[in-house]
Amino acid sequence: MAFTYFFRDMQTLEAIRDYALPALKSRRYINIWDAGCAMGQEPYSLAMVLRENMVRMIFRNVKIYATDIDGSNLFGKIIRDGKYPGEQVRRIPKEIFAKYFSPNGKPDHFIIADEIRKSVEYQKHDLLTLRPVRNNFGLIVCKNVLLHFKEAERINVINMFHEALSEGGFLAVEQTQKIPEKMKDLFEPVAANVQLFRKKG
Ligand SMILES: C[S@@+](CC[C@H](N)C(=O)[O-])C[C@H]1O[C@@H](n2cnc3c(N)ncnc32)[C@H](O)[C@@H]1O
Repeated sequence: MAFTYFFRDMQTLEAIRDYALPALKSRRYINIWDAGCAMGQEPYSLAMVLRENMVRMIFRNVKIYATDIDGSNLFGKIIRDGKYPGEQVRRIPKEIFAKYFSPNGKPDHFIIADEIRKSVEYQKHDLLTLRPVRNNFGLIVCKNVLLHFKEAERINVINMFHEALSEGGFLAVEQTQKIPEKMKDLFEPVAANVQLFRKKG
């Protein structure tokens, strides 16, 4: 199973809230790609942060395309069910947990609220095919995946992200991942010390 957890990277989630959200909110459709989403903790964390900062009517326009190569073939069911055991939800901030999770009938298991679940749609996808799941994304999140690729693969995948983003779209990568030097003219950082970039040109 892939390593991940809810609210794994609060700094990036806060940067998305502070820098990307104001620009995305005015769009009719807010399409987001979470590439390498594992069992759903990352796209669901993002969905909860967005919902916390959007009225219900605007949140209805959010669609998170959650994709993963998923060697186990289990991620789709886990994400669609939206059910997680207690040990996986303990790091979630208390007020968020109280709002978006409820007991699911099975001892120490919890289910995510319908509204959040409906915003995330899973499909199996291999990034190295270099075919985006669609175009015109306002935001692409790809964290703790690129580090597994060779330099040339990383460059090809980031190029694909650039093409799949709409004008002024955002790309979030993990804290330890730098945009390769030769791609610096494609993206600009939105702030110091966060790995959130905006598509240039
Ligand atoms: C360490 S997990 C990261 C999960 C989440 N993004 C996070 O940061 O918590 C890495 C994920 O990348 C996925 N992955 C690896 N190679 C991939 C590929 N070529 N295409 C799509 N997903 C891939 C793995 O299946 C795994 O779920």
